[in-house]
Amino acid sequence: MNKISTPIFVTQPTIAPLVEYSELLKEVWDSGILTHNGPKVQLLEERMKEKLEVSNFTLVLNGTVALQMSIKALGLKGEIITTPFTWVATISAINWEGCKPVFCDINPETLNIDEDKIENLITKDTVAIMPVHVFGTACNVEKIESLAKKHGLKVIYDAAHAIGSLYKGKSLLQYGDISATSLHATKLFNTGEGGACITNSADLQEKLERIRFFGHNRDKEIVEDGFNGKMTEIHASLGIANLKYFDKVLDDRKTKYLLYKKLLGKSKFLKFQKIKENETNYSYFPVIFSSEEQLLKVERNLNRQEIFPRRYFYPSVNSYTEIVNYQPAPISEDISKRIMCLPLYYRLSQEKIQLISKIILETIC
Ligand SMILES: Cc1ncc(COP(=O)(O)O)c(C=O)c1O
Repeated sequence: MNKISTPIFVTQPTIAPLVEYSELLKEVWDSGILTHNGPKVQLLEERMKEKLEVSNFTLVLNGTVALQMSIKALGLKGEIITTPFTWVATISAINWEGCKPVFCDINPETLNIDEDKIENLITKDTVAIMPVHVFGTACNVEKIESLAKKHGLKVIYDAAHAIGSLYKGKSLLQYGDISATSLHATKLFNTGEGGACITNSADLQEKLERIRFFGHNRDKEIVEDGFNGKMTEIHASLGIANLKYFDKVLDDRKTKYLLYKKLLGKSKFLKFQKIKENETNYSYFPVIFSSEEQLLKVERNLNRQEIFPRRYFYPSVNSYTEIVNYQPAPISEDISKRIMCLPLYYRLSQEKIQLISKIILETIC
């Protein structure tokens, strides 16, 4: 087998040609405005609203801050039911806002929060549900909404992975009281670091805008307990440049996802997240191995060829006892030991996907 000369990491950012970004940066330089919700931030917000057909798109520093601002804007204090199969940021946002995460185990097929297990966890202290659209695949938003209505709870979607995902033909980001997404370098659409809050409520949107700007109202009076969540003009310009390529990136991701699926789907030892076409953005290619031992063997063989997939999400966050009280979630704990995301990004060639799949199939057979 040929050795690959340059390492292949799990992901690489998709970035517009430097010359296109430079033109926008020149305008920023000429304007003398670097921040404070300047023209580039406003332009990107407008363009994202049009592109995703959502009522607003409040840009902020990153996805973690978007989650924290969502909790703050809804004035939540108490228990928030969430998933243990997520990145630690979901939990740190809850903790930083003085709330308590309560873990609801996941559906072993979709890897999303198991909506049928939420109701049992509701107590007098529950204030909200914070599900994650894992790997960009839609949660059962209808069931979650009806549960929330029944019990008077708020819903914040951690939609960090979900930019470009649809549900019933509409952006997945428009569900819940607020959806918080990430525009981190690793996401399908990125501003380097970045995030956004999306809500259907005009009042909440205004509150989010005040929170991100120290709590100022439009007359510069402090009327809210805010902080500094503003995105810079430099990051927004990168988003404007990258947006031109967003559709191409989405198409490319789907093609490569389907190629992996075709090559690996024939193995009886591997399982995959259950997805519905048009309810995902194909942003990750997670593989569920039959055991952790098998996963480690595959990882070693890929690493020998300088291919670096990522154990994601691992471990299950309910076991981070430094930041949470352990609450069992056996399905999430089991799957997180056996799941690994394979390299998937715009510049990854189809030949490399074939090579990666070949190494995996040869290792597990
Ligand atoms: C599920 C989930 N939530 C939240 C975040 C935090 O987003 P950010 O890195 O933009 O702060 C991430 C980051 O990848 C994530 O995967």
